[in-house]
Parts: sequence; C-alpha cells; structure tokens
Amino acid sequence: MTAILETTGLTKIFGGLTAVDNVTLSVQQGEIFGIIGPNGAGKTTFLNAIAGTYKPDGGRVHFLGRDTTGISPDKMCRMGMARTFQISQPFPKMTALENVLVSATFGHRGEHHAHDLALQMLDFVEFPMPVDTPARNLNTVQLKRLDLARALASKPRLLLLDELAAGLTTGELGDLMTIIRKIRDSGVTIILIEHIMRVIMGLSDRIAVIYYGAKIADGPTMEVAQDPRVAEAYLGEEYDL
Ligand SMILES: Nc1ncnc2c1ncn2[C@@H]1O[C@H](COP(=O)(O)OP(=O)(O)OP(=O)(O)O)[C@@H](O)[C@H]1O
Ligand SMILES: [Mg+2]
Repeated sequence: MTAILETTGLTKIFGGLTAVDNVTLSVQQGEIFGIIGPNGAGKTTFLNAIAGTYKPDGGRVHFLGRDTTGISPDKMCRMGMARTFQISQPFPKMTALENVLVSATFGHRGEHHAHDLALQMLDFVEFPMPVDTPARNLNTVQLKRLDLARALASKPRLLLLDELAAGLTTGELGDLMTIIRKIRDSGVTIILIEHIMRVIMGLSDRIAVIYYGAKIADGPTMEVAQDPRVAEAYLGEEYDL
C-alpha cells in the first residue's frame, strides 16, 4: 500500500489552545479513512491544517509524496485535494450547475469540457433536481449532493468530507453511504470525519480517534472500536462503540 497523505507531528495552536496536538498519521491510497472524536476535539482543524486553510504551527504534511506543509488551499486543490465543509456554502443565487461549474473551470479547463464535466459530476452523485435549480432552493440532502459534485469536479485524488451525513434521515444516510462508496470505487481516496457511528463503521477501512487535539488510537476500524481507550474518551458522549 502507498500512502497518499502523511502527517508528522502536525500541530495547530490558537492562542493558548493546542487544537491539533502532534498528530502523526498516514492515509493509504484507495481507502476510506475515518476520523472520529468528540465535539471540539480538533477534527476540522486537522483538515484545515492539511488542506492549507491554516498554516500548521509544527509538523509536516506530505501529499502524493511531496512536502505540502503550509501550501495554499487553491494549490492543494490543484494538486488533487478537495473537500466539503461542515456547513454547506454554495453560491445561493447560482444554479446547481453553475455552482459545480465554478469548480470544474478552476483547473483552467476549456468551457465546453468544464460544462460536460459539471453535468457528469451531478449525474454521478445522482443529483435529484433539475440542474438549473438555484442553490438557495435546495434542501439539506440535495445540498449535500451538490457539495459532493462541486468537490468532485476538481478531479481530486483525495477527498475530505467533514460531517457530510449530519442532519440526514436514516434512509438518506444509506443513499449517501452508497454514493461515498461509489466515489471511492472510482479511485478517489477519502478522509471521512463523522459523528454518526453507522456511517463511520459502515464505510471506514481504518479510523483514527482524536481527543483534545491528540490522536489516541488508529488502525483497522473494528480493532479501534474495541480499544478501551476509545471507549473511555467517549464516556459521557452519545457514542456507543
Ligand atoms: N479559528 C479558530 N480560532 C480559535 N479557536 C478555534 C478556531 N477553530 C477552532 N478552534 C478551537 O479549536 C478546537 C477544535 O475545534 P474543531 O472545530 O477543530 O473541532 P471538531 O473536532 O471539528 O469539533 P466538531 O465535532 O464540533 O465539529 C475547539 O476548541 C475550537 O473552539
Ligand atoms: Mg468539526
């Protein structure tokens, strides 16, 4: 197996708070890598530190074999790292298709090609509405699919999903999980941050547990789920690992 992403001692500090504390982990090409941890554990900050949104205060990030520590988000995107955000932020007045086009044209593709690509990606995520629907008229589950199509239109090698399943009904979760598997099967490696255990356990090949900024466990999903330190970290939380 080849690592697509490696962090070594990754650290991010806000004032006196070490939000990401010396995190070393490696994500293998082709896997779905889950990240779990209580609210405020540092999961989103970790994503921000690898995607270039925040410059780390310590440690290194290697993506596709290159040292990408501190590189800007648009360069990371060009290199093949895409993401969805915990709170969906489409351009509300633009249509679904136009939203996807923004990211499809980002790589300076020809207009024609970008248009085809955007339609293809909406089709791939089984976008359930006419593509000329304004984004502000979409409901939660439709927005999640739009977010995925936008991220995929940059043709990523690694896709970072930050609590994509939040707010969905049980039936909607199953559909979303099918699409996430389909994305992985198309050759995209995925980092999945998620609170919903059914989603994490059902999708992840391996998981890491972040607690107060630090990684307290990682490994194959079932092994980590049975780790007593993980159960301890979740005491008082809603999880049942
Ligand atoms: N830009 C910022 N400035 C200052 N503190 C921040 C900033 N972003 C995050 N934090 C703090 O860093 C810690 C980690 O936050 P983060 O959002 O990474 O947690 P999380 O694990 O994603 O939580 P959740 O599950 O609630 O999304 C929290 O204490 C948070 O308040
Ligand atoms: Mg978060």
